[in-house]
This record gives sequence, C-alpha cells and structure tokens, in this order.
Amino acid sequence: MNVLLLNGPNLNLLGEREPEIYGKTTLAELEQMVQARARELGHVVRAFQSNHEGALIDELHQSRRWAQGVIFNPGALTHYSWALRDAVSATRLRVVEVHLSDISKREEWRRVSVLAEVCAHRIMGKGVAGYLEALEWLAK
Ligand code: DQA
Repeated sequence: MNVLLLNGPNLNLLGEREPEIYGKTTLAELEQMVQARARELGHVVRAFQSNHEGALIDELHQSRRWAQGVIFNPGALTHYSWALRDAVSATRLRVVEVHLSDISKREEWRRVSVLAEVCAHRIMGKGVAGYLEALEWLAK
C-alpha cells in the first residue's frame, strides 16, 4: 500500500511548539517513525508538510492515483477549510484524520472539524502514537 503522510500548518515546529500539548517529538522523528513501521508492514510512505492550504490541496490531487491511504493532520485548517474538505471528497482518497491533542476537550472553536464527515476514520488525543494507529488502521 502507498500511504501519504500529510501534515498541515505549524506542524513543522513539532518538538518545540507547545510541547505540553503536542509533545517533544519533532516532525522529522515522527516521519521516520511512520516510515519505519510502514517498511516493517511492507508499505511505502511519502511524507509532506506545508503551512499553505493550496500546497496541501495540490499534494492530495497529485497523490490521488498513487496513494491507497492518507494519514492527515490538517492542523488549524481542520476547523475551517472547506477547500480541504472538498479536496478529500474530490480525490476520493481514504483519509484518516489525526490530531495529537484531543480537540474535543479543548477550546470550543477547535471542537469542530469540517473534514470529519469526509474522512474514513479519526484518531485524536494519542500524540504521535495516533499516527502509527492510523497506519495500522489503513493497513487492515
Ligand atoms: C492539531 C489541533 C489543531 O487544533 C491545531 O491547530 C494544530 C494541531 C493537533 O494535532 O492536535 O495545529 O491538529
């Protein structure tokens, strides 16, 4: 299986960004962890992060015939990007929405995900382990 590992705005700062909420693992370490587990399971992972909505949309479009699954943390775009939601439904990609923190227990504006309905599965509040769980979920 080919898997796109997609991270949105501010996730490039993982490790130094509010570690009490998002943990101490850097994005590079997180990507390596997912890559390593994918190799064990015989899958191929392509990792991409951007702070720009359009770049994330372009990546989904470009991956639509390559990827059989997507692990996607859209960052704050989760809460308001109708364009990303449309990109997920337009590409028909099988997307697992992942959040390091439990957004259902945080500020009211964070509790809403405009992507949830078009995603196949959702994992939150499990830190970086949530990304590995997403990989296992896609693989089964
Ligand atoms: C996040 C939660 C979002 O509300 C926030 O804007 C992020 C990270 C998470 O992984 O918990 O950037 O998606």
